[in-house]
Amino acid sequence: MVRVLLLGGHGKVALHMTKLLAAHDHKISSVIRNPDHAIEISDQYPENRSLIEPVVASIEETDEEGAKELMKGVEWVIWSAGAGGKGGPERTKAVDEIAAKRFIKAALLAPSVTKFLMISASSSRRSPASYWTDSDRVAFKKTWDSIGVYSEAKTVADEYLYNESRKSSKPIWVDICLRPGSLSDSHGTGKVDLGKAKLVGSVPREDVAAVAVELLEKETGGGLWVDLIGGSEPISSAVERVVSQRITSRE
Ligand SMILES: NC(=O)c1ccc[n+]([C@@H]2O[C@H](COP(=O)([O-])OP(=O)(O)OC[C@H]3O[C@@H](n4cnc5c(N)ncnc54)[C@H](OP(=O)(O)O)[C@@H]3O)[C@@H](O)[C@H]2O)c1
Repeated sequence: MVRVLLLGGHGKVALHMTKLLAAHDHKISSVIRNPDHAIEISDQYPENRSLIEPVVASIEETDEEGAKELMKGVEWVIWSAGAGGKGGPERTKAVDEIAAKRFIKAALLAPSVTKFLMISASSSRRSPASYWTDSDRVAFKKTWDSIGVYSEAKTVADEYLYNESRKSSKPIWVDICLRPGSLSDSHGTGKVDLGKAKLVGSVPREDVAAVAVELLEKETGGGLWVDLIGGSEPISSAVERVVSQRITSRE
């Protein structure tokens, strides 16, 4: 059993992850800002509700000490929070960049934490990937033109995770940046394109959650940056491939 802190616990991807983590017998502290969401969180695994502990806290208003406090005894931290474009550019920066960096820093300082998984986005990069097609490049430009504030905030947080992880002298530390394209609420297919993946297309949130949990369970060192979109490779084999072959979408 691993103790997991899930940030953005009431989010759609996070609810899928909660169910999967509990089914794998992990213990989840799920951070939500609205106490009314607590029952829905526990309902994700009625077979054993004691595995899921809803924790009410606003990520934006939690300082570094508060973040470290939330991480006491926790081994894995997952960032699946996001302003979702609500509250304007300032709030996007406050949640997707500033709060994310604060929780990354706290995780690096918290003695028990060994893994940090960031749910980012495949368009969160400074320039198009070398392996993309023309349509991926067009979609990338459109994304930055339409939601540039969000893309910038996520990119800065990802860069921070990467750079601070490389500087850290923590004896055991695994940083994972999982970068899905457009998310859908369709049922998971269990099949994905993971690693150096295309931008155009979509991926069900249920599949994102399954990939995230499997990456956390399989990745043991070195850190990973992987793009994700719907595809044709079974999730277990895709995760095994990127972990064993050290595939990275970071350029
Ligand atoms: N939408 C896409 O197509 C897309 C694509 C790629 C990546 N992503 C990223 O994937 C991740 C998960 O996406 P999703 O669809 O599951 O997102 P979501 O459903 O919007 O979930 C985000 C969660 O963050 C929570 N949150 C926001 N501010 C908070 C605060 N101050 N304190 C505590 N919690 C707070 C929200 O709480 P409430 O429920 O209370 O509002 C919400 O539950 C996000 O990081 C997103 O940026 C999204």
